Amino acid sequence: MTRIRKVVFPVAGLGTRMLPATKVLPKEMLPVVDRPLVEYAVEEAAAAGCEVFVFVTGRGKTLVEDHFDRAFELFETLARKGKTRELSALERALPPAGTFVYTRQQAPLGLGHAVWCARHLVGDEPFGVILVDDLVHARTPCLAQLAAVHAERGGNVVAVEEVPREHTARYGILDPGADDGRVVEVRAFVEKPKPEEAPSRLAVIGRYILSPRIFTILEDLPPGAGGEIQLTDAMTRLLAEEAFHGVRFEGRRFDCGDRIGYLEANLALAMERPDIAARLHAALRHYV
Ligand code: G1P
Repeated sequence: MTRIRKVVFPVAGLGTRMLPATKVLPKEMLPVVDRPLVEYAVEEAAAAGCEVFVFVTGRGKTLVEDHFDRAFELFETLARKGKTRELSALERALPPAGTFVYTRQQAPLGLGHAVWCARHLVGDEPFGVILVDDLVHARTPCLAQLAAVHAERGGNVVAVEEVPREHTARYGILDPGADDGRVVEVRAFVEKPKPEEAPSRLAVIGRYILSPRIFTILEDLPPGAGGEIQLTDAMTRLLAEEAFHGVRFEGRRFDCGDRIGYLEANLALAMERPDIAARLHAALRHYV
């Protein structure tokens, strides 16, 4: 069983659900409390043991790269003013040089295409994928929960969650096989089925551990739902060759690509911050 050393973050999406906030600001840079969304994803991957962080970006996403770089003037000014606490927090968040790599998707052809763009950077080993808008707040980071199942059982692993039947058309839905309450074997995937056609209410959320075989399948995969090259369709083909395990992860997932999910993530995380919680609680009483 191989350790998961590499993680792919497809961050080329336009973030249309959060306009106008995302007109010039990449959605991955939206702050949750006081950290950009992408930092939570990076921290989660690092906690799962990943050492190489591959970003599939697009036009207008250079702020994501800048965020993980040294900001010379800022660091210098903080040092000069003796703001050592702020400075060391920024220093700690910097990745070791050479561990963050970037490639561009060039055209919005779908999630499957975005993942395929990372093929040369990943090479021939199983790898993780994190969709940054799905923020998972958990005691054991979500990707680490998937990595544990991968270490036990091998194969491919996805995070799953039950969703209301009326929401199946927003997700990849799985047809479940054997199910021990935590890990469920996948018999098939369907991308964004209508409620009446969905094989279950178990939705794939944005965490995957995939075998490199997925790249060969993506190579000549025709467009699927929405005219896009769907990762879910490639996963369906891979199912004929390799097992897929769905993990009902422990933790709460917030869809930060959506206004309510995003606001809720801010509230949930702020209420766990000792420096903020009491004052926020008092402020909220005014509104509810
Ligand atoms: C993507 C995947 C879908 C998955 C979802 C999780 O959809 O295609 O299978 O359930 O992420 O967030 P998107 O949200 O990009 O439309």
